[in-house]
Amino acid sequence: MNRTRLILTGFMASGKTTLGRIVANSIGWLHKDLDKIIEAHFSKSISELFKELGEEKFREIESDFLVKELKDDFIVLSLGGGTITFSENFKKIKDAGYLVYLYSSPEKIYERLKFKVDRPMFQTIDSKPMEKNEAIKKITALLSAREKYYSQADLIFSTNEKNVGRSVDLLIKQIKPFLELKS
Ligand code: S3P
Repeated sequence: MNRTRLILTGFMASGKTTLGRIVANSIGWLHKDLDKIIEAHFSKSISELFKELGEEKFREIESDFLVKELKDDFIVLSLGGGTITFSENFKKIKDAGYLVYLYSSPEKIYERLKFKVDRPMFQTIDSKPMEKNEAIKKITALLSAREKYYSQADLIFSTNEKNVGRSVDLLIKQIKPFLELKS
């Protein structure tokens, strides 16, 4: 297993970006966020790209960026929630580094997502946030469809009931033995 890349997967709002940035800082590696890299490249938000290109084309672009970003060493890469579930992405990700699945329950995900307007999967056709029951149903269905990929991570780490500081401390403790850290 490659010990110079830490890759974070998990559903939207499970903490991939937030934890990725802090963990990378703490271990002295570079943090990369796949969504943010794509947004910066096109000068457009993921929501805009979804709307303009459709999901299929977005996924092709996402796969291309994934391959590029996985070339560097000593990186923490935060994936998008769906990245791991498309075409060859899963195998490439597994081969490239130490994979952590950040788990959160559908209720927790809903609580964290409900005021955000930048997640295209959870907007109605007229770009309004979804109603609670509908959103939780959609999160539950999507999460269980994706579970078969997420669950094959090297480590499953729950961010459900922990605050960010506690998650960072515990996560670093658990991943340290598997990474080639500079002393
Ligand atoms: C998606 C998750 C988003 C983003 C896009 C699609 C998904 O990333 O890539 O909206 O399919 O779950 P985050 O998980 O960082 O929100």
